[in-house]
Amino acid sequence: KIKDIDAYQIYDSRGFPTLEVEVTLASGTQGYGLVPSGASTGQFEALELRDNDSSRFRGKSVFKAINNVKTILSDALKGTSVFDMEQIDRKMIALDGTVNKSNLGANAILGVSMAVANAAANEKGIPLYEYLGEGKGTLIPLNEIQILGGGAHAAWAIDIQDYLVIAVGAKTYEETLEMTHNIYHAAGEVMKARGKCVGIADEGGWWPDYLTNEEPFEVFLEAVEKAGYVAGKDVAISLDIAASDLFDGEKYHFKLTNESFSPEAFCDLMIDWCDKYPIISIEDPFADTDFESWKRFNKVCGDKVQIIGDDLFTTNIERIKQGIEAGLANSVLIKLNQIGTVTETLEAIRVTQEAGWLPVVSARSGETEDAFISHLAVATNAGQLKVGSFARSERMIKWNENLRIQRSLGDKAQFIGSKIYERILK
Ligand code: PGA
Ligand code: ZN
Repeated sequence: KIKDIDAYQIYDSRGFPTLEVEVTLASGTQGYGLVPSGASTGQFEALELRDNDSSRFRGKSVFKAINNVKTILSDALKGTSVFDMEQIDRKMIALDGTVNKSNLGANAILGVSMAVANAAANEKGIPLYEYLGEGKGTLIPLNEIQILGGGAHAAWAIDIQDYLVIAVGAKTYEETLEMTHNIYHAAGEVMKARGKCVGIADEGGWWPDYLTNEEPFEVFLEAVEKAGYVAGKDVAISLDIAASDLFDGEKYHFKLTNESFSPEAFCDLMIDWCDKYPIISIEDPFADTDFESWKRFNKVCGDKVQIIGDDLFTTNIERIKQGIEAGLANSVLIKLNQIGTVTETLEAIRVTQEAGWLPVVSARSGETEDAFISHLAVATNAGQLKVGSFARSERMIKWNENLRIQRSLGDKAQFIGSKIYERILK
């Protein structure tokens, strides 16, 4: 039984305020929920409640959300069994009463939801992945790891948000990490040699200084070769275009090159890039309202490229169902705080998998020193995890946690790597 729910302000990887929720059970067992935060957020996401009081943390404080946990949510949930996660989440949704959780704040609700899940696992004395997956989660995910960061995560140094690597040739989880390590550092050396490295972007990838959005492909391919791998065989490119940030309702704009594209022309460009470069996965190639481009792109490239909807779906079950019906993509990015409860997140993953699509469990650009999502990925046999780069502890804790989970699973642990794509690609 839940005895007490407390919340307090902590700080995310950008040093912005966020909240941590502490659930205490009658037995004395505790569980924590640390809430992440995005920067290139989708318009259909559940609302992150911030105080917008310019005299405190430049408007970024979350005291209202904290207060909602300590009063309304705590009062409503005290005495409830911690194992009734679904009922607890449904009760919080009802108490909030809005479609986007704007009343109590998705950050407040998610903090409680994650803390409840952790407390329940702790009470049973089992790891979180085992609790969330009811013992059925055994698949260690393939990593999608950022090499270069741009867009909203690097002050628009380039227009494309993420250039990532997927170690498609890796036979083991450890090998994906070794390959990524080698390529990440080779890419840094290539960029420094070109005099084009500003520093490190929000998710730990290199922050570039480039003339075009295609130059990073050259750097990437050079780095892969320098590291001794073959692009297209050992490793492939993954992109997050985060195109909602580039679209004004009529056209897509590249600030870097001062180019504008009609939706048709932008779709042509994406098709062209997929032909030209060894791209295995592409996220948000179009804006979250530009369904025609999604449909056309999926028809042309959907059997050779994983097409992931992030801002398009915002982990929202109804939007995912509509996207499946309309044939907009073949994969869904899964972010807990886009929807605001663990229950709805698990349902979003289930709906995705039942349609024969792939879920990609993902971190946010503002992260915490918590590895909930590593457990979520294994629990649901999602098969893929995206956490930003191979640097900075708020990223590394997620990769490292999967090493620990793999150890704890022992003989039961499975790694199928890029075979996961056989479920969607020809
Ligand atoms: P965000 O970016 O966390 O800033 O929204 C991550 C992504 O777009 O995948
Ligand atoms: Zn994205």
